[in-house]
This record gives sequence, structure tokens and C-alpha cells, in this order.
Amino acid sequence: MDKTNFDPSEATVVFVLGGPGAGKGTQCEKIKNDYKFVHLSAGDLLREEQKREGSEYGELIQNYIRDGLIVPMEVTIALLKNAMKESFEKENKTHFLIDGFPRKMDQAEKFEETVVEPKFVLYFKCSEEVLLKRLLERGETSGRVDDNIESIKKRFRVFEETSLPVIEAYEKRDKVRQINSEQTVEEVYSDVKKVFESLGLRDHLFYT
Ligand code: C5P
Ligand code: MG
Repeated sequence: MDKTNFDPSEATVVFVLGGPGAGKGTQCEKIKNDYKFVHLSAGDLLREEQKREGSEYGELIQNYIRDGLIVPMEVTIALLKNAMKESFEKENKTHFLIDGFPRKMDQAEKFEETVVEPKFVLYFKCSEEVLLKRLLERGETSGRVDDNIESIKKRFRVFEETSLPVIEAYEKRDKVRQINSEQTVEEVYSDVKKVFESLGLRDHLFYT
């Protein structure tokens, strides 16, 4: 890829999905060190944009996040595209973990149309009971406006109704690698590594 001209269709993208509290962010932090991927969390990018002075979307994002609703895809896709472009231009990075995206079918379709098809989808599967316990614990220190019981319930409903169908659609295309994320962080990561190794994803380090 020409360094001055980012072509997102040549990027390697892995979507990282799972209910709220499934451990997406925790595992991405580990993967990025071992496999030299850039970790882009859609939720984190939205929270940053929400806080950015002068953002025209600040209030909209805040309201959507509090209610656990999916922010209109144009906003999220633009933030992801910008972040990918920046990583490429600054650090020549071409491998991206996209965490918490796509959460809705229209996001998946638009991203594939205008950016790139994901190499695969890493799905951290976890029961609501375990997720709830983790989120309430996290809520004690996270400072997130949505780590409270009311928002959590709404997020669970949106995950079931809106986000699970995205995972099912990728399953039909044989793109999902499912991992039991009720295990400990280290156990989950050991399963994650098996997926990355089986796909030869360490090799890209030798070429970049
Ligand atoms: O992934 P995370 O739990 O950080 O997402 C927090 C919130 O950000 C979601 O509940 C949703 O309101 C918003 N979001 C979104 N679209 C995404 C990812 C997150 O609207 N693809
Ligand atoms: Mg997260």
C-alpha cells in the first residue's frame, strides 16, 4: 500500500463482538501486543467524540449511550475510518481489531461496502448472568453513564434483538470464531491465541 494514499480495502480487519462486559476490550489489549494489531473500540471512539469540544454529535451520542441504543452508523463508521487512516499514515498499520462493531446489520453492510470485508469475527459468548455481575462490578469504578442496572438491561435487550442477528449473519458465511468468555481472562486469551495462530496471523509481522 502506498503510504500517502490509504486504501482501506487492503486493510485486514477482525470484528470483535460479544455482549456488554464480555471482555472484548480486555482481550483486544492482549491481542494487540502479541499480534501487532491496532485496537479500535467503537464505544471508546464514540465517548471521545462525545467529549470533544465543538463536536456536533456530542449530545446525540450521550443520549444514545445512556439508553444503550445504537448510534446512527454514519457517525461511527466515519470515526472508525478516520482512526484507521490515522494509524496507517502515522504508523503504517494495516491490521485492525474493531471492537464493539458492527452492532447492527446496517453497520455491517455499510462497512463492507465502503471499507472492507472482515477477515473473521471473534465472538465472545457469555451468559447475561455473568455479564451483569461483571458490569455492576465495573460500574463501581468505570464512571460510565451506562454501567447502571437500568442502562444495562436496555443494552442486553439491544444486544439480543439487534446485535445477535449480525453475528448470526456472519455465522452463515462461516466467518465466526466463537469463544467461551465465561472463563478466566487467561483461559479466554489462550483460546484467542489458537484462533489467531490457526489463521497464521503472526506471519504478517514478517512482511510489514
Ligand atoms: O462497546 P461499548 O459497550 O463501549 O459501547 C457503549 C455504547 O456505545 C453502546 O451501548 C452504544 O450506545 C454505543 N455504540 C454504538 N455503536 C457501536 C458501538 C457502541 O452505538 N458500534
Ligand atoms: Mg469495551
